[in-house]
Amino acid sequence: MTTRTCLIVVLAAGEGTRMRSSRPKVLHAIGGRSLLAHVLDVASAVGARAAVVVGPEQEAVVGAARAVMPGAEFYIQQERRGTAHAVLAAKAALSQGTDDVVVVFADTPLITPQTVARLRGAVAAGAGVAVLGFRPADPTGYGRLIADPAGRLLAIREEKDASPAERAISLCNAGLMALAGDVALTLLQQIRDDNAKREFYLTDAVAVARTMGVNAVALEAEEDEVRGVNTQGQLAEAEAVLQRRLRAAAHEAGVTIVAPETVYLCADTKLGRDVTIEPYVVFGPGVTVEDGALIRSFSHLEGAHVGRGARVGPFARLRPGANLDVDVHVGNFVEVKEARLEAGAKANHLAYIGDARVGAGANIGAGTITCNYDGFKKHVTEIGREAFIGSNSALVAPVKIGDGTYVASGSVITRDVPANSLAFGRARQVIKEGLATQLRAVLRAGKNKS
Ligand code: UD1
Ligand code: MG
Repeated sequence: MTTRTCLIVVLAAGEGTRMRSSRPKVLHAIGGRSLLAHVLDVASAVGARAAVVVGPEQEAVVGAARAVMPGAEFYIQQERRGTAHAVLAAKAALSQGTDDVVVVFADTPLITPQTVARLRGAVAAGAGVAVLGFRPADPTGYGRLIADPAGRLLAIREEKDASPAERAISLCNAGLMALAGDVALTLLQQIRDDNAKREFYLTDAVAVARTMGVNAVALEAEEDEVRGVNTQGQLAEAEAVLQRRLRAAAHEAGVTIVAPETVYLCADTKLGRDVTIEPYVVFGPGVTVEDGALIRSFSHLEGAHVGRGARVGPFARLRPGANLDVDVHVGNFVEVKEARLEAGAKANHLAYIGDARVGAGANIGAGTITCNYDGFKKHVTEIGREAFIGSNSALVAPVKIGDGTYVASGSVITRDVPANSLAFGRARQVIKEGLATQLRAVLRAGKNKS
């Protein structure tokens, strides 16, 4: 356990023009969570203070960051003059003093708390600057780590400023950097903009450290962990890496995922032991599935809780507020929204259950609709324990169906029904024997005339 304090500076002031999107880049999501939220999660996990550097007029980014990490501080970089310039926008945070300063990019969402800890470990061991390197399949666009024959890090050269020999170096800068808190500010303030882009490069911290007699070291990480997101294509690649991680973690926790590559998980999806997920299931944010539940193919779940041993799908849709207790069955083409189905309740086919409570053991017939919306407001339907709702019934909310009550098929129920009653809400059936024969004769005669 380290007792060292840490400040994480999250750079999020970039414009993200290559995304070709009106949404700020760092608010694009993977695993149902924004890129920025993933990075802030890492800051929280290592117990760091976070200083987020945003561009002017980025209220949406600030709002999203606050929702994830209420204690985060914000600094505005008025002009976009490079990564070191961006870090210095948070000068007030830096001058408060901390043992370790870690700079991360908000568009690098796959970094792990373990890697941040490794970089901090290097600083704790005496380095003034610790840089994370990696060996990308295609190094185009990355800064190169320049070391002396003894392996000591001398400088980082941005590609635009690199000589052909330097460009041939395979070890590249991942962008993550840790600095010793007592030298960070002095070091950053000595960085100049004498380079191809006339920007203040954070990467020059290494060369400056050398001139100050401060030691700089490089650590290495896997490419997947440090993938940056600059384009929609890279966003999809980062998503694929995250999905592999999430599925592997689920397998590790005892979840059966039959065809992992077809199942989409969210970063916050919680799956219990012996949960089985059939192929082609999508989890949106906020889903918990308890032990032993079965989620069948082509189901879509979002903001939902699935109780122990429950069965969902195939082709079920659980929307926010769907809450299924133990052993509930929700079958094909059933949509549940803002509704609690108590233990053992069943809705096996073709139904809409919204703004409702369904009592334990109740049976909802095929084609049942809770008519919850009158065009202005939502209303609640309450269905008692062991009630039986016949097929193709419309329950016009607000309405209560008592415990043990039967609703006849095809009913439109507009008034409350007390417990253990039988409710009919449909026209009585009329039979006229032989009338079909007469009708046919009349119709045939009419046709022959014309
Ligand atoms: C940077 C590194 C490069 C490294 C690469 C890894 C520098 C000079 N170069 O290059 O060595 O290989 O990342 O992905 O650091 N930002 C601001 N304000 C600015 C400029 C940038 O907040 O004025 C933010 C961006 O939003 C982004 C991050 O800093 O989150 C990195 O900026 P970017 O322009 O993407 O740097 P790269 O050219 O990718
Ligand atoms: Mg970048």
